[in-house]
Amino acid sequence: MITFLATLCTSENILMVTMGGTKSHKIPFWELAKGLINRGHNVTFLNGFPADFNVEGLVEITPSNLVQYIQNYTNWDLVGRRIQNLQPIPLFDVARYPIEACDALLNDHETKDLLNSTFDLMILDGAYPECALGFQYVYNIPFIYLNTVGFYTASVSRSGSPTPYSITPHFAIALTDDMNFLQRIMNSVVHVSLQIIHSIVISVLQSVLRKHLGDEIPHVYDISKNVSFILQNTHFSVSYPRAHMPNVAEIACIHCRPAQLLPKELEDFISSGGDAGFIYVSMGSSVKAANMPESLRQLLVQTFAKLPYRVLWKYESTIIQNDLPPNVKISRWLPQQDILGHKKLKAFITHGGLLSMFETVYHGAPAVVMPVFCDHDSNSEKAKADGYALKLHLETLTSEQLFKAIHTVIHDPKYRNAAKYRQSLLRDQKCTPLETAIYWTEYVLRHNGAYHLQSPSRNMGFMQFYSLDILCFFIVIFLLLKLLIKRYVIKASRGQPIKLKMH
Ligand SMILES: *[C@@H]1O[C@H](CO)[C@@H](O)[C@H](O)[C@H]1NC(C)=O
Ligand SMILES: *[C@@H]1O[C@H](CO)[C@@H](O)[C@H](O)[C@H]1NC(C)=O
Ligand SMILES: *[C@@H]1O[C@H](CO)[C@@H](O)[C@H](O)[C@H]1NC(C)=O
Ligand SMILES: *[C@@H]1O[C@H](CO)[C@@H](O)[C@H](O)[C@H]1NC(C)=O
Repeated sequence: MITFLATLCTSENILMVTMGGTKSHKIPFWELAKGLINRGHNVTFLNGFPADFNVEGLVEITPSNLVQYIQNYTNWDLVGRRIQNLQPIPLFDVARYPIEACDALLNDHETKDLLNSTFDLMILDGAYPECALGFQYVYNIPFIYLNTVGFYTASVSRSGSPTPYSITPHFAIALTDDMNFLQRIMNSVVHVSLQIIHSIVISVLQSVLRKHLGDEIPHVYDISKNVSFILQNTHFSVSYPRAHMPNVAEIACIHCRPAQLLPKELEDFISSGGDAGFIYVSMGSSVKAANMPESLRQLLVQTFAKLPYRVLWKYESTIIQNDLPPNVKISRWLPQQDILGHKKLKAFITHGGLLSMFETVYHGAPAVVMPVFCDHDSNSEKAKADGYALKLHLETLTSEQLFKAIHTVIHDPKYRNAAKYRQSLLRDQKCTPLETAIYWTEYVLRHNGAYHLQSPSRNMGFMQFYSLDILCFFIVIFLLLKLLIKRYVIKASRGQPIKLKMH
């Protein structure tokens, strides 16, 4: 079947690029790459994280300059800063990342070689795409965004889909799409001020691109507007209903799959707890457990010791901890989806990474979320609003709170029921997210960029798009008319003004 279909679409050379600073950005790309390779395409994937396993047929390019830069940059203590109520990544560091990462990338000879190759299509991460947009100028080929940070709306908005602040919470703050007046003020202020900072950062990045790729390069915002298609890592069942132009498709959970049997060692550990079941703890790949402040580690250990369940804990440290209670097992890597889909899983303790939230819904497991940075706050607000998760604040966390939260999501059936309900919504789709993504990628290839999907809204400013300029025009006309009538009436009545009632 697959080989038959492959003959319907010619094989093409596709370049994928993510400049994302955390490894999880690679996951949706891998899934799409596997699907496209199965369809006979050649896929090259440029990123900053050397592969720890091979995807068959995929050529991964990890320029050492970029890899080193990211390793140095991400030597961070996100949880520690969060606990101290500080910005997990200081604003200045957020701002310098895309500029310095771009310079590191373009300085690398592997990148220079790559820029001498030819491709038919690029698929860029919607998070930090600006540097890679410079490649578009070099290759002059159509490009697609795979928007890994699903709640980030800037690339969708720049391509012409409406994202009014009234219903579009900024991805970095703890709001949902249902905001009161004060929340809408805050949301608008965050959107506008971060947009201003972004445009300043981009003007510096633009000079990096000019230095490496030539003075003629257009502004990256203008290149960005010409996007052919956006694969958005959202779905209305796990994110918010949105008014998308036809060049946007939702592909949340492109990487989700049914659970498989666990390795015997893990299965034995879970079974040793009898029917009590187990909980799974993971703070994701970017929040390195080895960097976790000792106070938090102890708090977790003490809480887990009190639980009547087995605890599987993804913990990225080789140091053997002497104080680990017998019901806790730590491991550097655990098969997350096989665990979340396990019959005996009671709850998932998570940092609220977007892929983790999708997986917990896909497998129907209730969660306790402790957001750390980036989009974790908005992801966990959504999970809370959907009723399958309890949210805790790392800044003020106590062992009692955590114990109580775990107890609640396990024993109050409404959490598991809400997870199952969301699961049924997420799984009720006419084709899989991967099929959707492949269809639209090949659609763009078949129709040479599919530029007929673009709306002129992408070239309009805020005033034009919402017809505020028209509104202003009519207000001016109205005022002029009022003035004229007044004058005319004044003149006609020879100095005896008559008050006009205007409606
Ligand atoms: C894909 O790669 C193979 C092996 O390197 C090559 O023979 C083939 O020509 C490539 N396809 C395209 C469309 O370039
Ligand atoms: C690593 O980052 C620090 C500051 O964050 C910087 O001073 C240093 O030069 C960087 N080292 C390398 C090798 O990039
Ligand atoms: C790229 O190709 C051009 C012309 O084909 C050549 O002059 C240049 O040296 C090449 N650059 C690299 C980095 O290979
Ligand atoms: C959009 O990109 C295509 C492919 O590179 C190019 O041919 C076209 O001129 C671009 N359109 C605009 C408006 O920049």
